[in-house]
This record gives sequence, structure tokens and C-alpha cells, in this order.
Amino acid sequence: MTPDPGTLGTSDTPNTSDTPNTSGTPNTSGTPNTSATPGTSGASVTWSAPAPSTPGAPEPVPLKLTVNGRPYALEVEARRSLADVVRRDLGLTGTRVGCETGVCGSCTVLVDDEPVRACTVLAVQADGQRVETVESLAEDDGRLGPLQQAFQDHFALQCGFCTPGFLMLGTALLRREPAPGRERIRSCVAANLCRCTGYRPIVDAIEAVTR
Ligand code: FES
Ligand code: FES
Repeated sequence: MTPDPGTLGTSDTPNTSDTPNTSGTPNTSGTPNTSATPGTSGASVTWSAPAPSTPGAPEPVPLKLTVNGRPYALEVEARRSLADVVRRDLGLTGTRVGCETGVCGSCTVLVDDEPVRACTVLAVQADGQRVETVESLAEDDGRLGPLQQAFQDHFALQCGFCTPGFLMLGTALLRREPAPGRERIRSCVAANLCRCTGYRPIVDAIEAVTR
């Protein structure tokens, strides 16, 4: 499927990097972070990758990200994807990895407000930028955010695997265009794949938030 080039959800490169995009970076490394508690605001969190155990293994590189409003200072292998780092190092597993080739959009996160496919972006490409994941959409007291609630109310999910990606895509759209028409919403969500719900309830849910 060819996404509408004029719509959101088609970028796989953050705004400022000139590092070449290496599509489909596999989840090959990384140790789950046990010290950083995601989803809470507060002091910067520092995490260091374990020393390479294999002679000649690539040295980790420093990486600074602000994820869901919380600053992180990390060290990661340069080859690792943003999706991998968000999920494994930061424990934000709401971001789903499906195809790992930039096709399905289930891994969509926002980098400096732009929706990107986190499986095709190197984490180091997002250095110094703001990253938002689906975990950021809930209210402070844990209740569903408005768009999440609309998805529930309109039965806009079945298995839910694609849902975080659609939620982040919809969030980016509504942030940029608070009152998009139904056709505009349709063209936007066409960037992502849902295999079981169908698109009408997803469009209904996003449209409901604009009323
Ligand atoms: S998992 Fe990233 S686009 Fe499919
Ligand atoms: S709800 Fe199952 S793939 Fe979309």
C-alpha cells in the first residue's frame, strides 16, 4: 500500500538527522532496563549498556532522549532501532513491532511531534529529540485519554496489536489539524495496517474526538 504522501504517518526519519536510514534493524541486542521506571516524570535516568563481551563488538554510543516528558541518558549500540530501545531499555512495551520493515505502522511513535516508524529509525537518529509513545496518552490518574476512550467506545480494535500505532497517528493528526474532515482522517489512517478490525470504526473514533 502506498500511503498518501501528503499525510501523516509516512515518515521513517526524524526531523533533524542526516544519518542514513537503515530499514528493518532487527532486535538483536540490549538488556531490559531494570532501574528506570517509565511513565513517571522526574530526574534524568542514566543507563549504560553492558560492556561488550565479544572482542571487536561495537562500542555503545551515548544517546539522550526525552521520552514522554522524562529525560534519559543512555548508551546504545548505534545499529539499534528506536523501537528496540524504547521497548527493551525503557520498558515502554506499548509500542508494537510487527513487520520491522516500515510497512505496517504498528511501531509508530512521535519524534518532535512527527509520526515515525520506530522500527526503521535508529535510536541515535533521535538523539536530543522528544519521543512520545502510546503510554503518554493516558491521563495522570491512569484513565484512558480521550482518543483511547474513543477507540474503546467505537470498538475500534479487536486484537489491539495495531492500536498503539493508530493512536499515535491520530494524535499527530489532531495536534496538527484539530478538526480534520472524515476524508482527511481516512487518508491519514491509510498509512497504517489493521488486519482485523477494519478501518471504519477507527475513522469513527478519531472523528468523534473532533466533535
Ligand atoms: S513494525 Fe514498524 S512499520 Fe511495521
Ligand atoms: S485490531 Fe487487530 S490488527 Fe488491528
